[in-house]
Amino acid sequence: MAKTEARDLHDIQSYAPLKHIAFIMDGNGRWAKKRLLTRSAGHRAGVAKIHEIIDCAFEDYGIYAASLFCFSTENWNRPEQEISTLFSLLKEFFKKEIDYFMEKGTQVRVLGELDDPRIPADIMETIHEATEKTKNNDRHVFNVLFNYGGRADILHATKMIAKEVQEGKLKPEDITDDLFKMYLYTKELSDIDLLVRTSGEERISNCFLYQLAYTELLFKDVYWPGFSKKDLASCLEAYTHRNRRFGAIKE
Ligand code: IPE
Ligand code: IPE
Ligand code: MG
Repeated sequence: MAKTEARDLHDIQSYAPLKHIAFIMDGNGRWAKKRLLTRSAGHRAGVAKIHEIIDCAFEDYGIYAASLFCFSTENWNRPEQEISTLFSLLKEFFKKEIDYFMEKGTQVRVLGELDDPRIPADIMETIHEATEKTKNNDRHVFNVLFNYGGRADILHATKMIAKEVQEGKLKPEDITDDLFKMYLYTKELSDIDLLVRTSGEERISNCFLYQLAYTELLFKDVYWPGFSKKDLASCLEAYTHRNRRFGAIKE
């Protein structure tokens, strides 16, 4: 289809199937700084944005799964006060949105190193409540990447597989790409079709790694709290013009 041809993006699935979208929500701090607000206010505005964007992806564009990078394994390097603000905002988010996820049939998964003793007990409890309550929902999947690192994900999978081989449950020759994927935190989900990073930074920052092999990458020069449905539409429009070849030859 020609670049200039108008497309009904609501029908995106018919010409550019997009099952799984991921977001690196970046730029909360800079968004706040520009407005002479605190970084906490930026994070609050960023978290408030999540509902609108995820709902739009699921309801308007029929996307099955969305993943959101919320706290990386490297974000522990931030000041304690900022970390605790991020944690309380996440807790508030789950409490506020749980009814919405139930109503929409969305399964919430929290992916990352959840056995880290640095994560406060009340946060773990909230995470547990949200994942347990929504575990039988099957219309959509919403992955929250929390204390997540792409490298940690691969190492975690590798350790589990090594253990199974050691116990004689798996043979080295059983380790295929499909099997490996089943040990990643994103198990049972397809690879990511489109990754959008906001804030203008053009890097992955240890978000998904294994899962990004053939992902389309988009870097949007908008801070996450300012990312709108219109910005999402423009990302999806750009995605429809990508020619996903997966190493083959396609027109
Ligand atoms: C993203 O915004 C939120 C998290 C990483 C948790 P930042 O806090 O990274 O905002 P900037 O990049 O400093 O502007
Ligand atoms: C990536 O953003 C992490 C999350 C969005 C959770 P960062 O702001 O932490 O990444 P860098 O430090 O700019 O690479
Ligand atoms: Mg950042």
